[in-house]
Amino acid sequence: MCGIVGYIGQQPAPPIILEGLQKLEYRGYDSAGICTIDGGQAHIRRSKGKLVNLARLLAAVPMQGSVAIGHTRWATHGKPTETNAHPHKAGPVVLVHNGIIENYLTLKKDLHCNNHNFKSDTDTEVIAHLIEHEMVRGSGFEEAVRAALQELKGAYAVCLVSETEPGMMIAAKHGSPLVVGLGDREFMVASDIPPILPHTREMVFLEDDEMVVFKDGSARFSTVSGDSLTKIARHIDWSPLLAEKDGYRHFMLKEIFEQPRTVQDTLAGRLLEDEEDVCLEDLGLNDSELAQVRRICIVACGTSWHSGLVGKYLLEEHCRLPVEVDIASEFRYRNPVIGPETLLIAISQSGETADTLAAVREATIRGARTISICNVIDSSIARETEGVIYTHAGPEIGVASTKAFVTQLVALYLLMLRLGRVGGSITLERMLPHFATLLHLPALMERALRLDSAAESIARRYQHAGDFLYLGRGINYPIALEGALKMKELSYIHAEGYPAGEMKHGPIALIDENLPVVVLALKDRHYQKVISNMEEVIARGGRVIAICTEGDNEVALKAESVMYLPECSEWIAPILLSIPLQLLAYHMSSIKGNDVDQPRNLAKSVTVE
Ligand code: F6R
Repeated sequence: MCGIVGYIGQQPAPPIILEGLQKLEYRGYDSAGICTIDGGQAHIRRSKGKLVNLARLLAAVPMQGSVAIGHTRWATHGKPTETNAHPHKAGPVVLVHNGIIENYLTLKKDLHCNNHNFKSDTDTEVIAHLIEHEMVRGSGFEEAVRAALQELKGAYAVCLVSETEPGMMIAAKHGSPLVVGLGDREFMVASDIPPILPHTREMVFLEDDEMVVFKDGSARFSTVSGDSLTKIARHIDWSPLLAEKDGYRHFMLKEIFEQPRTVQDTLAGRLLEDEEDVCLEDLGLNDSELAQVRRICIVACGTSWHSGLVGKYLLEEHCRLPVEVDIASEFRYRNPVIGPETLLIAISQSGETADTLAAVREATIRGARTISICNVIDSSIARETEGVIYTHAGPEIGVASTKAFVTQLVALYLLMLRLGRVGGSITLERMLPHFATLLHLPALMERALRLDSAAESIARRYQHAGDFLYLGRGINYPIALEGALKMKELSYIHAEGYPAGEMKHGPIALIDENLPVVVLALKDRHYQKVISNMEEVIARGGRVIAICTEGDNEVALKAESVMYLPECSEWIAPILLSIPLQLLAYHMSSIKGNDVDQPRNLAKSVTVE
């Protein structure tokens, strides 16, 4: 996730772009850049780190021009360096981009053969070269943009200028958001509404494969392939703060609803359907090194540890390798038995958690192979492990992890497929159903998000409870732990997660008519056993909130409250189950008037012990 912004009009563009980027910094903040067209020439300034660095640069060396584009980056391809920062230029063409170009390596290879030299490691630079290539072959700027965009696979929102057309700006999108602001002979584009609000409230939301060309004080809409379009502007009367959260009351809710899109980003370019294989571009270990792995050890903290627990079920079942999952703060002081045949997987959203980083260092000293699953590009853990699977979830602002967690689960699923292929435990025949499952996942997640209002009613009903119990079995047991963690950290209500089969060994003593018990009862191999556990709770007066499969009337008759999820493969059930549990905790916190995005005593990144 990155933020892009563009302006064309009569006013000095650089301050407008800078102010716009400030409002998009929540979308990424590892580097930023701006390009103005002034005197027929493109002038570019870029800087690594937060936007304030770019602002300082502009204050020291001001820019002129009333056409400009800007970018704030959340790195996906290429480290967060000045060279990789946008805008990218090839010949006369300059652009900013939000999204992931999945076929960039193939395109780059072809362009190399045509004498194009690349300065950055980004997927984005390929687009600039493709357009330049078309222009060298005789196309005008607009025609070249259309031709190039039709070659791209993946997601993009782009804003482009060219030294050959100093009074023109072009924007287009496929898969990433793009809003167009229509002023009086001035126009803006941005990844989101907030940068546009101070300038105009008349906005057009571009659909996929649509494009807009600004020239001579007018905006001309068309499809990327060239059919003209009439777009109706909407009047947006949101307050600036509401707009930053995309209309949601809290960042956490926005991030919950973003999850289908983020999962698509995690999968982008990684499922190679033609080759029936999975590509994990920065994995670090080659096939023969992966084949030598005899044991896996996963280390993480908090929510990331829960994703590691799900990973154990996936990896043991499909790769037939023994997997241990450790809390990083325990692992680092435990004299663990690991060596060159152990693959240590560190899972961390921030990539900076002190205990997880220390566990990586400990494992490295003991000779284990190390990889990580991180969200923040080039973070310490990503750097200190031999390879990394980036989750591409974009910045997570809510302190309680949601979208980072589900994308960690997807990353583990992808790793399981890769290891299974290399080790021979997943045959080609068994691979394809997994592809279908993953490709269908975002649509199922959209359906799970429809539980929002049911989750809110349930939160209201149980808002005075002093404790909650969460029960699950098998691969969904870690989700019971995660549901309980979300509830306690957000609502400050005490909550425990348990494997349902453990009930008889102690926790059943807690059950009385005041205890809500969340039972994860999907139709899977443990279904009948979970139902028995649920009956035990009901028999003792416990109040069951069941999450079950659509059409399951048996559970509906027994439980006090029910939420239904669509039928799904058991391997993605943890992802779908997470959604109603996140929503339940979110609403409980919001009803209680807590600070949802920054719960008390917590920090987003725990960089101290
Ligand atoms: C809970 C939560 C934390 C983090 C934990 C590890 O919602 O977010 O439990 O999961 O602090 O953080 P990372 O993943 O950054 O290492």
